[in-house]
Amino acid sequence: MIRPATLADLPALVALEQELFGDDAWNEALVRQEIEGPGRKFVVADDLSGYAVTMTAGDIVDLLRIGVRPSARRTGIASRLLEELLVDTESASRMLLEVSVSNAPALGFYVARQFSVIDVRPHYYRDGSEALVMCRWLPGAARAETATAHD
Ligand SMILES: CC(C)(COP(=O)(O)OP(=O)(O)OC[C@H]1O[C@@H](n2cnc3c(N)ncnc32)[C@H](O)[C@@H]1OP(=O)(O)O)[C@@H](O)C(=O)NCCC(=O)NCCS
Repeated sequence: MIRPATLADLPALVALEQELFGDDAWNEALVRQEIEGPGRKFVVADDLSGYAVTMTAGDIVDLLRIGVRPSARRTGIASRLLEELLVDTESASRMLLEVSVSNAPALGFYVARQFSVIDVRPHYYRDGSEALVMCRWLPGAARAETATAHD
């Protein structure tokens, strides 16, 4: 049910971006960049009811987007997308993300999925609102600690 995004998904993903993120939506060029860009993992629900994207750099995996069509929410789609993004992250120690302080559904989702607030970024969004930076430790973190302990 969860699969990698392809360029054939571009029109549907651009429309969903616009529906979910309005003024902050990625345009077609940006969505294409996220599908093709280095270090990216872009996954979709097969029926394109949801999608999620990470960018890995060094030991940090940034969760750049996760979104589900309103009519399909609270059915576990975002959870399954996140699970797929957590596969093969062993070389990284943390997953990070930014989320608006006013985005209660996303905050509820991230807290339910073991993310904690580690910082605040003022004036992060176009409307001037602030973002919370949230973090979740990955299995690679334990391995890195063990390696350090043995050095
Ligand atoms: C945040 C979002 C991706 C969650 O998607 P979803 O498919 O509904 O999430 P799931 O069904 O996997 O939810 C898993 C758990 O997260 C928590 N959760 C999800 N939505 C929630 C809400 N509105 N309020 C409180 N907790 C919520 C719950 O614990 C839920 O488990 P439950 O349904 O058994 O109670 C979705 O609301 C969304 O697309 N929002 C708009 C886009 C967005 O803001 N993305 C994040 C910023 S990039």
